[in-house]
Amino acid sequence: MESHLSPPEKKKRVFSLIQPTAMPTLGNYLGALKNWKEMSELNDCIFGVADLHALTVRPEPAVFRRQSLEIFAMLLSIGLDPEKNIVFVQSRVEQHAQLAWILNCYTQFGEASRMTQFKEKAAAHEENVNVGLFAYPVLMAADILLYNSDFVPVGEDQRQHLEITRDIAERFNQLYGRTFTVPEAYIGKVGARIMSLQDPAKKMSKSDLNPKASVSVLDEPEVILKKFKSAVTDSEACVRYAEGKDGINNLMAIYSCCTGRDFPAIEKEFEGRGYGDFKTAVAEAVIEELRPVRESYLSLMKDSGYLAACIDAGCGKARAIAAKTLAKVSKKVGLLV
Ligand code: TYM
Repeated sequence: MESHLSPPEKKKRVFSLIQPTAMPTLGNYLGALKNWKEMSELNDCIFGVADLHALTVRPEPAVFRRQSLEIFAMLLSIGLDPEKNIVFVQSRVEQHAQLAWILNCYTQFGEASRMTQFKEKAAAHEENVNVGLFAYPVLMAADILLYNSDFVPVGEDQRQHLEITRDIAERFNQLYGRTFTVPEAYIGKVGARIMSLQDPAKKMSKSDLNPKASVSVLDEPEVILKKFKSAVTDSEACVRYAEGKDGINNLMAIYSCCTGRDFPAIEKEFEGRGYGDFKTAVAEAVIEELRPVRESYLSLMKDSGYLAACIDAGCGKARAIAAKTLAKVSKKVGLLV
C-alpha cells in the first residue's frame, strides 16, 4: 500500500466506482472500499456510485433510486471526507455517457467479446443480454479516463476491465497524440477476492441467493457471528493456508485484512485450536471492523439534506474535470466544439 501513497507535492489521482445494486458485501469492503479509505488520506481521490452500470440489470426504479442514495451515504460512512475528496454519482456527470459513446467507436467488437464478466453474466441472464452489458467495460474506461486517473483500486474481478481500459487509452493516444493517462489497477495482495462463506470456490457476491453466503457491511453483530459459525471449511481442523483449503484460506484472508496480521502469525495464533475458536475470532474481527461504518451510516441516513448537498457539491467538482477532458477528446476526433 505504502508504495502508492504519494507525497503531498505530487499527489496521484485515484479513481474508483461501486454499483448501487445492493448494500456492499464484506467482499466489496475488503477488496475495494477499505483501500479507498486508506488511499484517500494521501492521494487526490475521486470515488462514486456507478448507477449507469447498474441499469444493465434493469432495476426497479424506486428501489434503485433509494439504493443509489444508500450507497452514496455508505461511501461517506467508510470515512471518505467529501471536502478533501470528490465523492459523486456517475449519471449526474453527463460526460461519462458522452465519452463512453466516443470510446465505443475506438473499441473492437472482438476485444469486448472476450470479456469474461460479460460472458458469465450473459450466460447467467439469458433473458436480458442487452447492448449495455456488452458495452459495460467501455463505460468503465470512460469513467476512469475522464479523470486522468493514475490508480484504480478494485478487486480481482475487475482486472480484465482495467486491461481493456489501458488498451483503449493507448490506442487513442497513438492515434491522436497523448490525451489520456494510462491507468494502473491497484489490487491489494490480500482481500482482492473474498469468497462465498457457503461455497468458497465462488466469489462473495451481492446477488447470491443464499443469505448465509455473504456478509453485508450493515449486518448486525449477531448475524455476522451466525454467518461465520456456519461457514463451510474442511475436516482437517488445522488453521493453515494451503491449497485445497479454500474455506479456511478465505477466513484467513478476511482475518488478515481486519487485523493486519499475516498468514504465518495467524497460523501461530491458532495452533492447536479448533475451527470453532477461529470462526468466532474472525467474526469478532469483522464485527469490530464494520461497527463504526454501520454506526456512521445509520446517523448519516437521518440527514437527507446533508446527503443531497454532498451529492450536488461532489458532482459539480467531478463535472468540472470531466468537461475539460471531454472537450479535449471531442476536438481531437473532429467534433464541432
Ligand atoms: P462492483 O460494484 O461489482 O464492486 C465494487 C468493488 O468491489 C470489488 N469486489 C470484490 N472484491 C473482493 N472480493 C469480492 N468478492 C468482491 N466483489 C466485488 C470489485 O472488484 C469492485 O472494485 N464495474 C465495477 C464498478 C465500476 C468501476 C468503474 C470500478 C464502474 N466504473 C470505474 C472502477 C473504475 C463494479 O461492478 O464493481
